Amino acid sequence: MSDTLMESNGVHTSVSAARRSRRVVVTGAAGFIGGHLAARLIADGATVIGLDRRDPHRDTAAAENLADVLAEPTFSYRRLDVAEQRWEEVMHDADVVLHLAAQPGVRPSWGPRFDDYVTSNVVATQRVVDAAIRIGVPRLVIASSSSVYGRTDGRPSSETTPTVPMSPYGVTKLAAESLALAHAQRNDSVTSVAALRYFTVYGPRQRPDMLIGRVLTATLGGPPLQLYGSGEQCRDFTYVDDIVDATVTASSSTIPGVFNVGAGRATSVHEVLRIAEGLTGRRVPVNQDAARNGDVLATLADSTLAHDTLEWWPQVDLTTGMRRHLDWLRWNHRPRWLTA
Ligand code: UGA
Repeated sequence: MSDTLMESNGVHTSVSAARRSRRVVVTGAAGFIGGHLAARLIADGATVIGLDRRDPHRDTAAAENLADVLAEPTFSYRRLDVAEQRWEEVMHDADVVLHLAAQPGVRPSWGPRFDDYVTSNVVATQRVVDAAIRIGVPRLVIASSSSVYGRTDGRPSSETTPTVPMSPYGVTKLAAESLALAHAQRNDSVTSVAALRYFTVYGPRQRPDMLIGRVLTATLGGPPLQLYGSGEQCRDFTYVDDIVDATVTASSSTIPGVFNVGAGRATSVHEVLRIAEGLTGRRVPVNQDAARNGDVLATLADSTLAHDTLEWWPQVDLTTGMRRHLDWLRWNHRPRWLTA
């Protein structure tokens, strides 16, 4: 079928191309970052196919993460496990695949759940990347993690810093991004592949095992914070909107490779407590606990590559981001202990 052409300011555009919105497949769409990402893509005019193994009718976190998008006409949701089931057909007319589905979390990866880390992070990534390249999806972006770096001396990690993960989780994320980059070298590949190393992401709907949500919840009368180790450990805490922004920017680019995505400032757990106390005027109740295996002393992103090539810059400083996170906890979430 031949497309008719329309002219605007002297530029000819195919009518069908102009009308057809970008089709984006998001794996892990019912997760913390995936839900924010799907909402942003829809707001930008994309058609989004969200895949996730969670059932939003049974899983409260998935329901919250998808609440902004489930009823949108340009969003469709398929509940399936990308590691286990066949779903390749949704890639056939996709412009971009954003692969976020994973088993996250550093500390539980030592235990009996390791098999799930391998299946969800390695096997699933192999299937997604292999299918995307076989089908010829133009762009594939996968979510990786600062955990691939392992122990650092506190100086910023750039993409050329050696990767020596210190946790089974970090090992599986490094395997995932290595798989993606290996497939990208295939002779039959027309797909450009990027892996984004996200640094400790926080903001509304953050996973409940993570620090900042737990600290803020503790100031609101929730359970005291279990402080793992000295509290001197530092993280490059990065606000979820900045992570989404980097991912959307990478999705529109064709530049391949690995990119750090971090705020560029290391903050200790103690400092996070002080910020939370400043925001709420309340002390954070703390129970001292042992340092956890795999917990690195510091992460700090050198995101120069993302600045220079993707033109991405973080916009949200930690105090502003924590205030937004706190507002969400107060007004949108109302933890059980506030309503009881
Ligand atoms: C986070 C995510 O959990 C990983 O999935 C992600 O891949 C990783 O960031 C990353 O950047 O790659 P983590 O840095 O451990 O991992 O982030 P938090 O869970 O927010 O923990 C930050 C620090 O607070 C850690 O040192 C942790 O031990 C400490 N913490 C956390 C506590 O002391 N108590 C808690 O209840 C939770």
